[in-house]
Amino acid sequence: MVSTSTQIAGFAFDNCLMNAAGVACMTKEELAEVKGSAAGTFVTKTATLEFRQGNPEPRYQDVPLGSINSMGLPNNGLDYYLDYLLELQESEPNRTFFLSLVGMSPEETHTILKKVQVSDFKGITELNLSCPNVPGKPQIAYDFETTEKILSEVFAYFTKPLGIKLPPYFDIVHFDQAAAIFNKYPLKFVNCVNSIGNGLYIEDESVVIRPKNGFGGIGGQYIKPTALANVHAFYQRLKPEIQIIGTGGVLTGRDAFEHILCGASMVQVGTTLHKEGVAAFERITSELKDIMEEKGYESLEDFRGKLKYIEE
Ligand code: DHB
Repeated sequence: MVSTSTQIAGFAFDNCLMNAAGVACMTKEELAEVKGSAAGTFVTKTATLEFRQGNPEPRYQDVPLGSINSMGLPNNGLDYYLDYLLELQESEPNRTFFLSLVGMSPEETHTILKKVQVSDFKGITELNLSCPNVPGKPQIAYDFETTEKILSEVFAYFTKPLGIKLPPYFDIVHFDQAAAIFNKYPLKFVNCVNSIGNGLYIEDESVVIRPKNGFGGIGGQYIKPTALANVHAFYQRLKPEIQIIGTGGVLTGRDAFEHILCGASMVQVGTTLHKEGVAAFERITSELKDIMEEKGYESLEDFRGKLKYIEE
């Protein structure tokens, strides 16, 4: 009776939960595990043109209220993920999967996107504008001029379904400025949020990850209020053709419910998936369904975006 099915870019998914890029998605084996779980689909680790080793370990640490990471874009290179996705298109033609990617420079981003454009890939592409962990490379989406230049260049040749992964913004003016740019382009979705960049976690007298003297992206419970604010701010500002994927601080069905209430059409799980494994999808889905049932909601459409405000 109660369904958590959803659509993104016109593609149907039987569940609105999936992994967040970076967790359980580096290898085909990990991707196959997410695919075989209760998740509706998967997204790959953000692919660069070539294989990258990433930053020195330890570079990811689970902590009581979340996680801190400075992975540095370790990945198997575009062809590894694209080849797997092309295989799946043959073996599972009724399912749609997400390819995450970004270049180490705008030129490399265009090279990668052009390869995807001329390939037979029929799925959804997520351009990651928010990696906080490569020394010397700022998070692209905090630079509105560069972001607009990249998007205008990309849409000159890229005609497949494309969305962007965003870092969290913290100022109303930045929500306004970012949304005004995104509304100029035929984006299918924005994904809010990537980790809160460059936090510091300390145990006794020491940092807990090696790269960048311990600075790393923060995920988990710490970031849910920021994630919900970003989901809702863009839901309020973006044209209806641009959907929202909600990511950040999803530990329970209640957290997923709140993301959807703020406007999310899909909800991604990162830190909790890392801590708990793919069994998290079944647990969170059943918790979400219980809440829907209790409230008399049969589908996500019954409450998506319907966050209530306190009247003046
Ligand atoms: C990495 C971290 C991110 O938050 C991201 O968006 C992309 C890459 C990383 O360090 O690998």
